[in-house]
Amino acid sequence: MKAIRIHNYGGPEVLKYEDAPRPEPQAGEVLVRVHAAGVNPIDWKVREGYMKDFWPHKFPFILGWDLSGVVEELGRGVSRFKISDEVYSLPDPTRNGAYADYIVVRESELALKPKPLHHPRAAAVPLAALTAWQSLFDTAQLQPGQRVLIHAGSGGVGHFAVQLAKWKGAYVFATASTKNQDLLRKLGVDEPIDYTQQRFEDIARKIDIVLDTLGDETQERSWSVLKKGGVLVSLVQPPSEEKAKKLGVRAALLGAQPNGAQLAEIAKIIDSGKLTPVINRILPLSEARRAHELSQSGHTQGKIALRVKNGDGTLKGKQS
Ligand SMILES: NC(=O)c1ccc[n+]([C@@H]2O[C@H](COP(=O)([O-])OP(=O)(O)OC[C@H]3O[C@@H](n4cnc5c(N)ncnc54)[C@H](OP(=O)(O)O)[C@@H]3O)[C@@H](O)[C@H]2O)c1
Repeated sequence: MKAIRIHNYGGPEVLKYEDAPRPEPQAGEVLVRVHAAGVNPIDWKVREGYMKDFWPHKFPFILGWDLSGVVEELGRGVSRFKISDEVYSLPDPTRNGAYADYIVVRESELALKPKPLHHPRAAAVPLAALTAWQSLFDTAQLQPGQRVLIHAGSGGVGHFAVQLAKWKGAYVFATASTKNQDLLRKLGVDEPIDYTQQRFEDIARKIDIVLDTLGDETQERSWSVLKKGGVLVSLVQPPSEEKAKKLGVRAALLGAQPNGAQLAEIAKIIDSGKLTPVINRILPLSEARRAHELSQSGHTQGKIALRVKNGDGTLKGKQS
């Protein structure tokens, strides 16, 4: 099969479009013909070697931990899926990824893909939407009527977090630059904040939940907007336990986990029209380098996806 692999850590030039062995499903696993792979910042972070002390990848390995495709073969004991099912997944990021014609995924990491989305749009959902879901619902236990501040509301995770928080009945503040203010409004943000013109702490006050997608100064300044009993969830940098205790708030670092059952819930919300991925660009798999450069800019609007199987998502922006 064809795949994008890396043989060493480095810049986008280490991404090699080449032949790789087709994997075989073991018991409890499913072989999926990948039609599209989503691109996330973790892809270039792994490529650069930032995760090498945490995840035991062995060279050469395949990047990309977001996919939509079709079930090709079932391992022993798989009962919830059948051949030809259209599925999507955040697969285990410690194993080979989805920038490839085929991937082996555990049954527990799969769900049927949302019906209204073609594969490249569906592939843009799992990692970012699960991150938003697990941050807001599992970790922060978001309740209707609560006030939520989402940093980078126009980004991959942020645009799902905004929509999921609104779906749950929250009052939502979100930050982005001037060019993304219209998008924030369209997504349903109650109080969009232009971080190039305004200080978020002047607008967002008495917040129950902060979703920190940026760390550093943004995280440091976010403590002051939380009300007592509030929660700061960071995706990027462990928040200080000491500071949280002193302020009477809770703080957590989230690491998104594969979860097929939650993906099935997310698919239902997408099917109902209450959640939609924003797709910035769909590129062919062979242009993974370009996709990484765009992601690494830190200013992607919504998501980037890679078309793996020809004929999928060639009509830019069109749903089918
Ligand atoms: N821990 C986990 O499990 C986990 C899971 C997913 C993601 N992450 C991490 O979380 C971070 C966000 O991921 P992502 O996929 O959402 O990234 P992304 O899509 O690359 O985020 C890009 C967005 O960030 C906005 N942005 C940039 N600087 C900003 C600022 N100072 N204030 C407000 N918004 C700003 C940009 O808007 P403008 O262009 O308008 O500035 C852009 O829309 C990444 O570091 C990623 O690795 C962690």
